[in-house]
Amino acid sequence: MKKVEIFADKRATNYDSFVETWIPNYHYFMSIVPSLIEGAKGDNLLVAGCGTGTEIKTILDASPSWKVTGVDPSKEMINQAKERFSRNNSVKLMEGVVSDLPNEPVFHAATLLLVLHFMPDDGTKLNLLKTISKRLHKHSPFVIFDITGSPDQMSENLEILRHLIPKGLPAEDINDRVERIKNNLFTVSEERIYELLIGAGFSKPVRFFQNSIYMGWRCYKS
Ligand SMILES: C[S@@+](CC[C@H](N)C(=O)[O-])C[C@H]1O[C@@H](n2cnc3c(N)ncnc32)[C@H](O)[C@@H]1O
Repeated sequence: MKKVEIFADKRATNYDSFVETWIPNYHYFMSIVPSLIEGAKGDNLLVAGCGTGTEIKTILDASPSWKVTGVDPSKEMINQAKERFSRNNSVKLMEGVVSDLPNEPVFHAATLLLVLHFMPDDGTKLNLLKTISKRLHKHSPFVIFDITGSPDQMSENLEILRHLIPKGLPAEDINDRVERIKNNLFTVSEERIYELLIGAGFSKPVRFFQNSIYMGWRCYKS
């Protein structure tokens, strides 16, 4: 039985340097996100699983007019975000999950970055996507980023990932990370991601980013 990942203790406090190491071109990916939600019909943004607030910072640096609601169930992660935005009145942060927010379509855009792969595909992924969809106005953009692939594609792309991470990391760390991805995450194929998004009330997604096992898409609330 796979374990659901918990972002606590060291895993939370080292999170920012962890992603820089293990996600090739993470900065490039993040730099595209603000443009992909431009043109939304209002300025309320939902950042589901906001973690330490990385995407909130990137989005606000590019477009300061967004009013952001960030939610994350990990106390350690959201506390880092709270500290980061303590002087920014446009950012509301809540320790919790999306279903804790009022069940009303008040948001004009949403992001879900590096969250869905932690959830089993037993209704839990679909439920989270539906919970987000219900809180969005029609035609709102939704950006999603996830570790993705059928089992064969995951094996092949994990081999590619080994070549793309910074040189000089101990082989043991690389093997541990690859094993953790193989054994602890609930990855699904891109086709399944499409099915889930469409089933949750979004338009057919368009992939705008891929680097080894990491893929990013944009779709709209139907
Ligand atoms: C890998 S981090 C991603 C953080 C941030 N989105 C980023 O890209 O840097 C995954 C986050 O998802 C959060 N998470 C786990 N289950 C969640 C849920 N049901 N709803 C929202 N966030 C969740 C975790 O606490 C963690 O902070």
